[in-house]
Amino acid sequence: MPANTIEHNRTRQNFEGVSSIWLFGYGSLIYKVDFPFLEQRPATIHGWERRFWQGSHDHRGTPEAPGRVVTLIESPGAACKGMAYRVSPTVFEHLDVREKNGYLRFATTMTFEDGGECEGLVYIATQDNEAFLGHAPDAEIARQIAGAAGPSGPNSEYLLRLADSLRALGDACPHTFAIETHLRSDAERDT
Ligand code: BEZ
Repeated sequence: MPANTIEHNRTRQNFEGVSSIWLFGYGSLIYKVDFPFLEQRPATIHGWERRFWQGSHDHRGTPEAPGRVVTLIESPGAACKGMAYRVSPTVFEHLDVREKNGYLRFATTMTFEDGGECEGLVYIATQDNEAFLGHAPDAEIARQIAGAAGPSGPNSEYLLRLADSLRALGDACPHTFAIETHLRSDAERDT
């Protein structure tokens, strides 16, 4: 799977006759909402975990020093909380470009806070994409994030904004919070 997924995503779903679709966001889509939406609701998807396992050389890093951003990894019994947006299909023209570095759109079921369920889409970077980095110890991930920056800004800003957004949403994401703790204590030690 090439890292640039724009063309691939265009052929994945048929939006003919569809006026709106739910999109589940679990990363920067929670706090960087640069697209119009018709409705917004906190939601959870089951069987998936958020992981800083995807390399970013276009937004939060460079090809020489890639940053790390989140993807979802299948994990039976797990739950990942995020924000769902009901959007027009035209929004995907923008998001496919924004999230072109390895992310594909997948169908998913999302559960809202009132227990209601809905089918929708989620962007996932699977391990067969060229930018996938995979597991590393939390401390190492924090050091990589601290040292990376790209056109969208420092990788540390991505991590800290995501961690704040997850606290606001009430998502206890031990992986994100452990990396945040390493990043903050490394920064304190180095000052
Ligand atoms: C998300 O927030 O769901 C997301 C953001 C960037 C790439 C893929 C997913």
